[in-house]
Amino acid sequence: MSKRMRSRLPTRSTSSARHRCSMQGRSAARLGPLLLLLLLPVAWGEGPSPPRAGAGRELQVSSRLAGQAARVALHYLNYRLGSPSALRLLGQVRKATLKTIPGIGHKYYLQFTTEDYKISQNVGTCLATVLYLKRKPRPAVNINCTSTKDQKQIQEDDLSFYKKMKQQTKPIIGNDIPDSYGNIEPAFEPVWALAIAGSSYVMWEKSTENLGYFMAQVKHVKQWITKDDAVDFDYSVVLHEIPTQEMISCHIRIIWTPGHPLRVKYFCLSENQWLESGEGSGTETGSTSGIFNEREANF
Ligand SMILES: *[C@@H]1O[C@H](CO)[C@@H](O)[C@H](O)[C@H]1NC(C)=O
Repeated sequence: MSKRMRSRLPTRSTSSARHRCSMQGRSAARLGPLLLLLLLPVAWGEGPSPPRAGAGRELQVSSRLAGQAARVALHYLNYRLGSPSALRLLGQVRKATLKTIPGIGHKYYLQFTTEDYKISQNVGTCLATVLYLKRKPRPAVNINCTSTKDQKQIQEDDLSFYKKMKQQTKPIIGNDIPDSYGNIEPAFEPVWALAIAGSSYVMWEKSTENLGYFMAQVKHVKQWITKDDAVDFDYSVVLHEIPTQEMISCHIRIIWTPGHPLRVKYFCLSENQWLESGEGSGTETGSTSGIFNEREANF
């Protein structure tokens, strides 16, 4: 298991500690072909009610911690769906409850709306729990969302991008997406979207209760032409850390086949040059279930 020298509640004086080198001993487990089925948005309609927070403390929907937790849940979703055409952004937090589980961590119970990454249009509501574990890196996430977007259209868009990439005889190479005016060339839009899906893995891993991440820019992208059925890219991206305003450069290798989990390998350098690395194969458990039993947690 990985060990991280990372402060859970970073302050100015400890903020460099969390960038100390971490060894990710996680091995790339085999990809589960059924994985996506588990991740397809679940509609709850009038059915099951949001997860019960027990004796949790209600947070203001505008609170920074609530927004931060909801974005962590979306990083997890965007990575696990592994679909450049299905990316979601946080719309509005509708309900947020925080429960402290002694000895284990802080658990957020959230309900929030989401927007399409490209056009700010509501694409559904999500229920999520985000558990920041005291002694483990990366928050445990459980999320279910409704979707107002046409699933067929998403699949078709993914497939047409995929086919285009597989037909390339010369590798795609690009810089500064978006450019300094915030523009993205239409041809590079899905390439950028795939970078977000892959970066979401890194952002999920790095997130803490107090530190959040946004993907600011793709500095450089290069495609690897391969003979297998995957699409393979090397990205250099810049992540924006909040509230520290630090810029973090990451090199991310993203291997993608539509309908399969993303494979991600990365290393990041922060401004003060600490190195962090890791890899994901879409098989990580984000779910809190099985990690512990709340009843036994003695609170
Ligand atoms: C998501 O749905 C599953 C299956 O219905 C349920 O067990 C889980 O508690 C739900 N998670 C949330 C956060 O609502």
